[in-house]
Amino acid sequence: MDRFLTADDLAKTLRQDVREGLEAVPKTLPPKWFYDERGSGLFEEITKLEEYYPTRREREILIARAPEIAAATGARTLLELGAGSGEKTRLLLDALHGTLRSYVPVDVSGDFLEDAALQIAADHPGVAVRPVVADYEQHLHLLPNGERRLVAFLGGTMGNMPPAARAGFLAGLRATMGPEDALLLGADLVKDEARLVAAYDDAAGITAEFNRNVLHVINRELDADFVPGAFEHVAVWNGAEEWIEMRLRATAGRAVRIGGLDLEVEFAAGEELRTEISAKFRRARLEAELAAAGLELSDFWTDAAGDFSLSLARCV
Ligand code: AVJ
Repeated sequence: MDRFLTADDLAKTLRQDVREGLEAVPKTLPPKWFYDERGSGLFEEITKLEEYYPTRREREILIARAPEIAAATGARTLLELGAGSGEKTRLLLDALHGTLRSYVPVDVSGDFLEDAALQIAADHPGVAVRPVVADYEQHLHLLPNGERRLVAFLGGTMGNMPPAARAGFLAGLRATMGPEDALLLGADLVKDEARLVAAYDDAAGITAEFNRNVLHVINRELDADFVPGAFEHVAVWNGAEEWIEMRLRATAGRAVRIGGLDLEVEFAAGEELRTEISAKFRRARLEAELAAAGLELSDFWTDAAGDFSLSLARCV
């Protein structure tokens, strides 16, 4: 396993993100800190909820299109950013079996990577599995290249980046790509507001627990005294930006001490902390953002209901 990111780097980034985010007005935290073991488990549960359509829609598209993706790319290396989408990876690996020589799952956490890699290696003899611990917003240039690669970024995770970060990410990715490489990008689509909000505010309250999990993570990692139960889950559609925002709303005024940062932050009653944006796309905007990065959309697929999209793009 290659490591471009150590546990120390991660700890440092967490400290910096929490300090900056809680001192900002309004307060924010980056969504990447949801995913400790409990948070990853909660996300797994979310993907099975009736209201949360993206995972099952993307799977539907992959089942229908994996053979076309394999034929169009003839990929020898599958590089998966933010690996851990298990079943979807399998669909791609199976479809690519004729040409694929290596699989490179990339994730910020080595814990989940190692197990997933072992499992995949066992099921796909002939494919070299080389997991990489890296942050795809920082280490794209360090990832293996040279072979006809398919870079997969699934699940709609790019939507977690605000537009400027997306532009930087796509341009950085483009800079690592050669003429034989392709990008497979999963992106959720703009739709009826009620369905979007329900997907991020499910009746069983799993998403609420997932949202509050970031407070548990900060309590544990940075010796803080957040009372997660004193924060309400909020999901709102921002129609101007075309993204869903998740927030945590303090039900009462209180001070929170973050011992590990020697920091005390005040929350006013009703004050909201933004924990995630999840941007939703239209084909035209995806096409324009890809083009701005020097990437050309060669295929654009949706599920039958038109809820979610998969794009295949290449260097211009
Ligand atoms: C894993 C980033 C794609 O934005 O839909 C699920 C995370 N947040 N429910 C998304 C998430 C709330 C998810 N991604």
